[in-house]
Amino acid sequence: MTIKKQFEEFRKEFMGKYYKPIKTMPEDYVYVVEDMKIIGLAVINIVNSLTKKALVIEDFIIDKEHRNQGYGTELMGEIIGMAKRKKVDCIEVTIKKTNKQAIALYKKFRFKDRDNISYRLWLSE
Ligand SMILES: CC(C)(COP(=O)(O)OP(=O)(O)OC[C@H]1O[C@@H](n2cnc3c(N)ncnc32)[C@H](O)[C@@H]1OP(=O)(O)O)[C@@H](O)C(=O)NCCC(=O)NCCS
Repeated sequence: MTIKKQFEEFRKEFMGKYYKPIKTMPEDYVYVVEDMKIIGLAVINIVNSLTKKALVIEDFIIDKEHRNQGYGTELMGEIIGMAKRKKVDCIEVTIKKTNKQAIALYKKFRFKDRDNISYRLWLSE
């Protein structure tokens, strides 16, 4: 199976009823593999502002059956490697305050709380 197909399969499985096919692959993504199968992925954007070049993590997911086995740590290691290669100034991610596992993972990598409020306007509503 091609990476694109595997990537889509993974998304479909993870997103269940919220799944919507995407027409093109995201520009940047990183994944972790076990036995030739994608078991975790991250979608990434590089964003330039007036003050910095940031790598923004949009999605960061490890398959349920494979959590707590170090794959999230491996995926983050890949992202940090990519950030260094792309010479970005920082890595940013937004997470729910209640997401203890993700918070523990980011803290382990010394991400700092920016104490921001995060808003979103869905145009379809
Ligand atoms: C968050 C997530 C990616 C972590 O992936 P993972 O493969 O389980 O992570 P790891 O096994 O590498 O564990 C990383 C760290 O997370 C913490 N952690 C993992 N499971 C935990 C749990 N059940 N409770 C508390 N902390 C936990 C630990 O600090 C661990 O590091 P350590 O083992 O060195 O102490 C995974 O739970 C997931 O896909 N969640 C759903 C999607 C999501 O919420 N994504 C993040 C939002 S962007």
